[in-house]
Amino acid sequence: MFRPGFRRFASNLTSSASEFAYTLQVSQAQGTVNGFVGAIGRTPLIRLNKLSDETGCEILGKAEFMNPGGSVKDRAALYVIKDAEERSLLRPGGTVVEGTAGNTGIGLAHVCRSKGYQCVIYMPNTQSQGKIDLLRLLGATVHPVPAVAFDNPENYNHQARRHAERLAAETGNAVWTNQFDNTANRRAHIETTGPEIWAQTNGAIDGFTCATGTGGTLAGVTRYLKEQSEGRVKCFLADPPGSVLYSYIKSKGALTERSGGSITEGIGQGRVTDNLAQEIDLIDDALHISDEKSIAMVYRLLDEEGLYVGASTALNVVAAYEMAQVLGPGKTVVTVLCDGAYRYAERLFSRGWLQGKGLLEAIPERLHKYIVLP
Ligand SMILES: Cc1ncc(COP(=O)(O)O)c(C=O)c1O
Repeated sequence: MFRPGFRRFASNLTSSASEFAYTLQVSQAQGTVNGFVGAIGRTPLIRLNKLSDETGCEILGKAEFMNPGGSVKDRAALYVIKDAEERSLLRPGGTVVEGTAGNTGIGLAHVCRSKGYQCVIYMPNTQSQGKIDLLRLLGATVHPVPAVAFDNPENYNHQARRHAERLAAETGNAVWTNQFDNTANRRAHIETTGPEIWAQTNGAIDGFTCATGTGGTLAGVTRYLKEQSEGRVKCFLADPPGSVLYSYIKSKGALTERSGGSITEGIGQGRVTDNLAQEIDLIDDALHISDEKSIAMVYRLLDEEGLYVGASTALNVVAAYEMAQVLGPGKTVVTVLCDGAYRYAERLFSRGWLQGKGLLEAIPERLHKYIVLP
């Protein structure tokens, strides 16, 4: 039996042919898909068994590490490129330019290859050679530039914008995808991640939480779930140290306090991006998650669930656990498993690195057997 809310959702869907087609794809699970971009999305929703049993709730993780580029950012990469195509800024042979040091660049590089575009990435020159090499082997042109603050015109984001503007003036066929403030990013999650979560839980979801980098995932999923549940589903922002959003939400927009820094990558923000600004009033509450809790969860997820995930995923799962405790037993809480630990293994599983960050003691003794790197 569907809950009344889900029946209403189903009838809403039949009124929109394109949304209905999308839900059909969800229920068909994995068939043949059209190229790399066809393989983005429709990821499993994994019940985290130990954490669910411990809290008396259903704690479910959306397995975004199973996207073909390996992270949740494949969805945003596809949508910012689709948006540029729809606005006739990009035609075959065109160039996509972005400022990014992480997963968005990887997603863009893959999508560009699969669609025949050039990909140009600007990043701070403090990033590891491994990241530069990976983007280059995916066919991107990489410009490592001095790591300067956002208000400096030489910041990597501004250089990316100027590069795209120059090329667009010359060729009329280049775009700066601008992941932070381009709301096509958020749209990816309104049109895909949100509907998938709703369909996979049959609408029986009580809470959603995740951290924000651009804010696209949290904003888009929150918008969809709030609309479908008529406001019933609670949505919490999860924030690492060094980010201003926890204080911003807690103070209802009055404060943007920042203290400390975090080992997590791809999350934490110094401002309210355009992607997040659209939905920030829908966010019910915020959770501040320490690095100690996140690193311990990296190891717990490996040991108890067999999941090899990065620190932003671990932070999200801690947040889901804490949200479950707030909502109480019997509730269903969903979060996002953003990416795998592969790109971070040299740090997260290194004794020396953990000691240097003061995080070794945060990992329970029985899990030290996973610290296999010196
Ligand atoms: C590993 C990881 N987790 C989480 C996020 C945050 O996602 P969003 O930009 O949609 O807020 C990112 C974004 O780059 C990421 O790379």
